Amino acid sequence: MNARCNLLSLSSHVPSQVLTNDDLAKMVDTSDEWITTRTGIKERRRLAATENASDLGCKAALKALDEAGIKASALTHIIAATCTPDSLCPSVACIISGKLGAGAVMAFDVSAACSGFLYGLSLCRSILAQDPAAKILFVCTEALTRRSDWTDRSTCVLFGDGAGACVLTADERPSLAALEDVLCKSDGSLNNLIVVGGGTATQYKQGDTVGSDFFIHMQGREVYRHAVRQMSGICEEILQRNGMGIKDVDLFVPHQANLRIIEAVGSRLDVAPEKVFTNVDRYGNTSSASVPLALAEARAQGRLEPGMRVLMTAFGGGLTVGAALLRF
Ligand code: UT7
Repeated sequence: MNARCNLLSLSSHVPSQVLTNDDLAKMVDTSDEWITTRTGIKERRRLAATENASDLGCKAALKALDEAGIKASALTHIIAATCTPDSLCPSVACIISGKLGAGAVMAFDVSAACSGFLYGLSLCRSILAQDPAAKILFVCTEALTRRSDWTDRSTCVLFGDGAGACVLTADERPSLAALEDVLCKSDGSLNNLIVVGGGTATQYKQGDTVGSDFFIHMQGREVYRHAVRQMSGICEEILQRNGMGIKDVDLFVPHQANLRIIEAVGSRLDVAPEKVFTNVDRYGNTSSASVPLALAEARAQGRLEPGMRVLMTAFGGGLTVGAALLRF
């Protein structure tokens, strides 16, 4: 597909509350040493009791609209990627639309867990191919600490909250970055490896107390194995189908789930360590928000000059996996 799909802007937002490894060590039987050596995470953000995923997303969205110079009322689509929506219905996209006063836009959510940014980019590209006049606000936002089981040390140390947003069009006007290609896949036979509860599978009655199924469950070791294999595989595939090699990539921005996974994927792909962007130490795993949050931070640090090519990849519940090439 050769449709033009340009990012006019890119932004992020994280809540102000910082939860350090030492804070967690007061809640569960863990230590800064274990979390740092096994994951590379030092701290993560936690949203306030008064905030929801839509609030984080809205803050990122306002910055993205401002940078793009587009009013909410001019948008044609609002898409939100999340696995921790405020509610099953309405969608986070509709809540954000209402908060922004966007009017009669098409608004809906994408459920692809940590691969949400890549899945959303693929969708935006298809929408722009069908409707080149579309103006899309795409938001990735997560409130994962709301589904963290604070008694389960094997999962609660991993996740954090945050949001990223961008505006996409097929305009010819100068853009921040062009989407060169995106590739997304899944393996539904492994859907039990990462589960975020709170859906209708559990038949709660009013007055029941939530059970452990309400929270994030993950078979960590299995996920780790698949994550390394799937992310490196899909990166090789997208490079190959574009006639590129890793030498054509200026910055590698992988899903920030675990530093060891990032290093293993980087090593399989033979990416020079200085070309691998990481911020997992400060935010942990923010699922769909992870890649746009990393990308926005790389840009803020001056690591994305015009002309540079970025390879992004992510992996998550579903199991889903994706990769994309962006040219700044
Ligand atoms: O977003 C995409 C989805 N998520 C991921 O990509 C996560 C993928 N998986 C991982 O990152 C890793 O598997 C984890 C970080 C979750 C776990 O690391 P691991 O090296 O695979 O540890 P493990 O699960 O094999 O556990 C090793 C030991 C166990 O103790 P025993 O049975 O050996 O006595 C665990 O009980 O570490 C223990 N453990 C902990 N100890 C201290 C597990 N969590 C903790 C903890 N603090 N927080």
